[in-house]
Amino acid sequence: MASELHINISIDVLEPTELTDQERKAMELAQQAASDAYAPYSNFLVGAALVLEDGTMFKGSNQENAAYPSGLCAERTALFAFSAHHPHEKIKMLAVTARRRDDAEFLPAMPCGACRQVMAEYEYKQGESIPVLLQGPEGNFYRFRSVADLLPFQFNRESL
Ligand code: THU
Repeated sequence: MASELHINISIDVLEPTELTDQERKAMELAQQAASDAYAPYSNFLVGAALVLEDGTMFKGSNQENAAYPSGLCAERTALFAFSAHHPHEKIKMLAVTARRRDDAEFLPAMPCGACRQVMAEYEYKQGESIPVLLQGPEGNFYRFRSVADLLPFQFNRESL
């Protein structure tokens, strides 16, 4: 007989005033980072920021290329820069936002599957959850408690 598997994921939907100081700073850095995006093809500017345990922050933006698949998303740009510079440190949280080039309004920023997979790698590696704060609709924010909540049933080194 068929059985069912239920997963229970809760996401905090937050107004700007409900962010912690650290979340607000990380989101502000992500918003600044979006302006650094090199996105001449999509004109869709994505910014990501991550915070380390000691408060150090890393930012990343999407980097496009005339050979389209050679470009990279903001989240992976930030994560790979972090890991290349601080291979032994842990990520305390990650923030992501996006906007169109000609519009100041920030848009919901849902990380693509490949970025979720890369986030999952570092979450697994550090053995501690990475909370993810995403720009949501209407100026609100979505707080996921972990990457595992963004990417359930993940393929990781235990799958190998
Ligand atoms: N993009 C990101 O930077 N992050 C995502 O999670 C989704 C998409 C970028 C890639 C490309 O430069 C532009 O957004 C349009 O897809």
